[in-house]
Amino acid sequence: MKDWKFLMEAAEGAREMAYVPYSHFRVGAALLTKSGKIYAGCNVENASYPAGICAERTAVSKAVSEGEREFEALAIVGGKEGDWAKFCAPCGICRQVIAEFCPPDFKIVLGNSAKFEVYTLGQLLPLSFTGKNL
Ligand code: THU
Repeated sequence: MKDWKFLMEAAEGAREMAYVPYSHFRVGAALLTKSGKIYAGCNVENASYPAGICAERTAVSKAVSEGEREFEALAIVGGKEGDWAKFCAPCGICRQVIAEFCPPDFKIVLGNSAKFEVYTLGQLLPLSFTGKNL
């Protein structure tokens, strides 16, 4: 199995940029394109809570707005300040956004750079609703 440590480390770097004055829950995500580039993102909160955005969608938006649409894997790290051991699974909205661009066998790596597990998008979002349904 491929060693995703490098991608988890990129996600950990992005996590340091998290703007989280309200939840103090820092998340970093690193999206690997098929061409080998990494687009990283963090969560950016807002005083008007729903205006905040998750790390995963920051990363996807950065990549897509740079012309990227072909992705290999997404690494996600996160937790309360200093509590990096727990897994941070993507929220439902992020799973839906990932499904817009990625197939069911797309890899999602959860944990931290020392210990991680690899899931597929199909495992995290079964019976998804996509453009194919329209
Ligand atoms: N958050 C993410 O960035 N990604 C997730 O997958 C889960 C939640 C953020 C949103 C909010 O800034 C904070 O974590 C607490 O929910």
